[in-house]
Amino acid sequence: MRKNRRNRLRLVGALAAVLVAVTAPSAQGLCGEGHNEPPTLAELAQRHGRYFGSATDNPELVDEPYKAILDSEFDQITPGNGMKWYATEPQQGVFDFSAGDEIVDLARANRQKVRGHTLVWHSQLPNWLTSREWTAPELRAVLKKHIQTEVRHYRGKVFAWDVVNEAFNEDGTYRETVFYKTLGPGYIADALRWAHQADPRVKLYLNDYNIESIGPKSDAYFKLAQELRAEGVPLHGIGLQAHLALQYGYPTTLEDNLRRFSRLGLDTALTEVDIRMYVPADEQKLATQAQWYMDLTEACLAVRRCVGITIWDYTDKYSWIPAFFDGEGAALPWDEQLQPKPAYYAIREALK
Ligand code: XIL
Repeated sequence: MRKNRRNRLRLVGALAAVLVAVTAPSAQGLCGEGHNEPPTLAELAQRHGRYFGSATDNPELVDEPYKAILDSEFDQITPGNGMKWYATEPQQGVFDFSAGDEIVDLARANRQKVRGHTLVWHSQLPNWLTSREWTAPELRAVLKKHIQTEVRHYRGKVFAWDVVNEAFNEDGTYRETVFYKTLGPGYIADALRWAHQADPRVKLYLNDYNIESIGPKSDAYFKLAQELRAEGVPLHGIGLQAHLALQYGYPTTLEDNLRRFSRLGLDTALTEVDIRMYVPADEQKLATQAQWYMDLTEACLAVRRCVGITIWDYTDKYSWIPAFFDGEGAALPWDEQLQPKPAYYAIREALK
């Protein structure tokens, strides 16, 4: 199976250059409607009962060619920053949902689902929260109000929430965030319960990176998920960010890992996929990257409760990687000129 796929991929790679010229304009919706356009990633994913999404960010939405692909190729969007705490509650008790709303409105216009990202995270917190000490009762009240105000605001508009983001260290111990240190590990169950009260229908996720493989960090999630389920805490899914890097190898236990969470009765999703490499990219690296995109797409399709895949923006033009990982980049399926890369054709192949 794998072998065949690999051979097919080589073929696809060889054809890609030719196909770019033929298919790229229609993928961008420049040919108008209904002229034998190839199906979009979203349409291909829907045939499997999955979504295929992209993150986006408000400043990018003035880029019309960018927007054309975002609007047409995907059926799910995640705001890259607009729903984070610093953006939504810049002053204590003063809420600003304008950035998130802009993306929700765009998604609605394009009939795309939205993943809410994220309610509780140690990063990108507002200054008023990080610049002082809190007693447990104070922080509990702050956290509850933040979660419930935001979840209520987006009730019926997002289908899922990353309620807690990046709660564990690599060795599976709890990350010592302000929430953990002040409130103890119970803050996670509390956050889930508060979110559920505010929107009983929305799917509630825990989300993290480096949990694609079976190992100490994903084991910590597995154990926590078992406990939360046993206690009747409203947890519905685990989000695997899947920020992969060629130099660290492919997470070969991904499919088994997804399956063990499914068996707990949880949904899973690949929520922030990108596959970075040291730049400059070359043909070999792009081919390996394409293979990985294909493999992770197949892994999700192989596990019934893996509900969808989101790439962390779709073009290298707007990837977060170069700014955060020195010397790395080229992580997404479209290049900086918005042209599809081998990875794009590999995803299509996996979805066919
Ligand atoms: C990133 C955004 O893409 C950047 O624009 C921002 O400067 C930093 O955060 N894990 C997450 C995402 O859960 O929220 C992060 O997004 C990437 C890593």
